[in-house]
Amino acid sequence: MPALDFAATHRNRDVLLEVLTPRLPARGTVLEIGSGSGQHHVFFGAALPHLNWQPTDLAEEHLESIVAWQDLQPSAGLLPAKKLDLLAPWPVREADAVLCFNVIHISPWACTPALFQGAGQVLPAAGRLFLYGPFTFGGEHTSASNVRFEGWLKSMDPDFGVRDAETLAQLAQDNGLELLEKVAMPANNFTLVFEKR
Ligand SMILES: C[S@@+](CC[C@H](N)C(=O)[O-])C[C@H]1O[C@@H](n2cnc3c(N)ncnc32)[C@H](O)[C@@H]1O
Repeated sequence: MPALDFAATHRNRDVLLEVLTPRLPARGTVLEIGSGSGQHHVFFGAALPHLNWQPTDLAEEHLESIVAWQDLQPSAGLLPAKKLDLLAPWPVREADAVLCFNVIHISPWACTPALFQGAGQVLPAAGRLFLYGPFTFGGEHTSASNVRFEGWLKSMDPDFGVRDAETLAQLAQDNGLELLEKVAMPANNFTLVFEKR
């Protein structure tokens, strides 16, 4: 099956790696939710081969693409892809960090509380959850392009949408995590870093 090419990964992978590198644990397993094509997975895995990288996704074609990218760009810490649906029990019980990039705005709202609940269960004390994508702050968009983007999301499914950082911080609290950092990224995106208490 083909290795899919998600264009945005070429633009954001370096800045994401810059954010992750000093903030990930020194060892252990990084669970990625909604790995998509698998391009972030193989890129991060090559850059930080001392960590174990667990890719997951809901979609069969994405799971196949992850395998294809692993064949093209193998490295020591890449683990076999697993099917993980945020709305079902997770097939992974423990992780030292959790990544979820560009997923929660383009999936039904129920996926967002499920993400925080799952992360709260799999992470150890001081383990981190990294969310990347567009967010609103106090209900306000950070750009006109994000307003248009949200219109496009809602035209696909009214239950999709740009999520609010304060709502996410409350969900984090409810699941034993704290919002630690809001890192501004190019193209009106942010990385939100949460830490388990
Ligand atoms: C826009 S893509 C982002 C992919 C990748 N993280 C990236 O940044 O390129 C959204 C991903 O979320 C996945 N996804 C959607 N709903 C999901 C769910 N309920 N559980 C797990 N993954 C889901 C999709 O299959 C897709 O791979």
